[in-house]
Amino acid sequence: MPEDVILTARDGRVGIITLNRPKVLNALNDDLMNALGAALTAFDVDETIGVIVLEGSARAFAAGADIAVMANWTYSDVYNSNFITRNWEAIRQIRKPVIASVAGLALGGGCELALSCDIIIAGRSAKFGLPEIKLGLLPGAGGTQRLPRAIGKAKAMDMCLTARVLDAAEADRYGLISRVVDDETLREQTLALAASVASFSAPALMALKECVNRAFESTLSEGVLFERRELHARFATSDAREGMQAFMQKRQPAFEHR
Ligand code: CAA
Repeated sequence: MPEDVILTARDGRVGIITLNRPKVLNALNDDLMNALGAALTAFDVDETIGVIVLEGSARAFAAGADIAVMANWTYSDVYNSNFITRNWEAIRQIRKPVIASVAGLALGGGCELALSCDIIIAGRSAKFGLPEIKLGLLPGAGGTQRLPRAIGKAKAMDMCLTARVLDAAEADRYGLISRVVDDETLREQTLALAASVASFSAPALMALKECVNRAFESTLSEGVLFERRELHARFATSDAREGMQAFMQKRQPAFEHR
């Protein structure tokens, strides 16, 4: 029986996806990216799930695109088959918050996959890098665009042009990731964080994610207008009514995700 390249599980309102090609440090091939896209989409449309966690193994979140598969490809192969675009970008369509939980290596496409998530929580063992230049390639899963937006041009150029790898403390300092925790508690803290976010109103979370992402896709005035409309739309939801009533009545809100 071939091994499952991803594993999925649930913990309350949290959907967990584990990359599972440990022998090759979770190198990202078509099977894995197809399965990942399907799992992300399935959790995204599942009303019992509020937040998705994406994790690798203790040694590697993912060491990048599968070099063994790419090694003999030609330009025609990748252009005609629409490499990356055909199956790596499913994550961009996901409306629920996605939390990357990173231990060990997040290199190349693995780093880019983490950068496509909404929150990155890392263990102290985590290492982030875009070493594609060492292969005569360049980061091609959004890295040249998302990294400078995350950490600024100077640090991004340094990482891309020199293949410099950041440890978790540096990545945290530069703003590449959201939080650093001890490796031993990474899973527990990831799930606690995910459960806490998933307890909020699901439609409010989705709208909020869309607003923040809009900051990277539009002018400030367009983004603020979009945000204002989304805020106004919250007043049409029973969750906003419940949230504010609960505050007034000094009790915990019971959101129905409506
Ligand atoms: N693709 C395919 N196989 C990989 C891989 C990758 N990206 N990364 C690691 N592996 C495999 C190794 O070939 C090795 O397999 P074998 O046991 O069959 O030889 C196994 O995983 C374990 O790796 P190492 O023995 O090399 O482990 P190490 O601890 O000595 O080194 C490493 C770890 C520094 C990460 C090294 O494996 C490495 O440099 N990997 C490549 C990292 C890389 O260049 N990533 C970018 C890929 S290109 C890309 O991602 C393009 C894009 O933008 C989408």
